[in-house]
Amino acid sequence: MKRSEFESWTRAELDAVESAMQAWVPDNTPAGLGLAMRYGVLDGGKRVRPLLVLAACQAVGGLREAAMRAACAVELIHAYSLVHDDMPCMDNDVLRRGKPTVHVQFGEAQAMLAGDAMQALAFEVLTPTAADSQAFADGEGVPPTLQARLCGLLARAAGHAGMAGGQAIDLASIGKPLDEHTLRDMHHRKTGALLQASVLMGAATGTTSDAEWDALTDYGDALGLAFQVVDDILDVTQASETLGKTAGKDLDNNKPTYVTVLGLSAARRHAAELRDKAQVALRRSGLANAACLSLLADKVVERDN
Ligand code: IPE
Ligand code: IPE
Ligand code: MG
Ligand code: MG
Ligand code: MG
Repeated sequence: MKRSEFESWTRAELDAVESAMQAWVPDNTPAGLGLAMRYGVLDGGKRVRPLLVLAACQAVGGLREAAMRAACAVELIHAYSLVHDDMPCMDNDVLRRGKPTVHVQFGEAQAMLAGDAMQALAFEVLTPTAADSQAFADGEGVPPTLQARLCGLLARAAGHAGMAGGQAIDLASIGKPLDEHTLRDMHHRKTGALLQASVLMGAATGTTSDAEWDALTDYGDALGLAFQVVDDILDVTQASETLGKTAGKDLDNNKPTYVTVLGLSAARRHAAELRDKAQVALRRSGLANAACLSLLADKVVERDN
């Protein structure tokens, strides 16, 4: 696939995701809660997780409606995790996606509730009623067994064993010199789990052999870890204007990262190794339509924000 084709695929999918999110995230909720939700999730972010879902769906020839719902659901969980991650009780940040953070704009209690409501909305989006599904032009709907499977994959990645568990380890590690093994485990959970789940949710919308599923699992595992290694690197190498969030925050907050544990050059080498690992797993899958997944792995490691 040519770079220009990948770029137009990306643009078209980002537009589709934005329209679906605009429709699904409410603004008419009690006491302005919907406004805080929309502020936290619309018009911002790189949308890497939705793109992974849609690219994996394409690779397996999966069901488009299910994949679009999964793409929005994982982004809702991710955006909720950012709203809470930025709160004073966690990383205490004031800038996100180039704007004041949700708690700065709407207050701490509203930010907490917006995050809670975004999490619940993710599972609403994954479990459409018959009437919801008719809104789709193809009218295919999402079979109940697939709805349940998508909910299970997302819940496990978001909860105690995944993102929330990883965030707990992150906060418990402040000021501690973690060994590489513990750091890897924390990063796998707090960030890797949702990225891997994005790939697997996309794959679940179609049919895969066990070997294909295992290969995509390994691809998601390596790519998910690479994503947070690069996030640690960008925190020390980029400016706040490029990142859309406060640069140098990890050092400020005394967080152990791949940069503090391995050093900058070794962290960069490790990110490249993880990208190669992801590409090897993807080739092993033998999937013919995996070009977008492959280019996304490159993008995750080559990005500057
Ligand atoms: C930032 O994620 C938080 C991490 C899990 C590393 P992203 O870099 O995907 O943030 P957005 O969605 O583009 O804002
Ligand atoms: C975020 O890790 C992981 C989440 C689950 C949100 P960071 O705390 O490093 O993310 P940023 O750098 O604030 O985006
Ligand atoms: Mg954090
Ligand atoms: Mg943070
Ligand atoms: Mg970070």
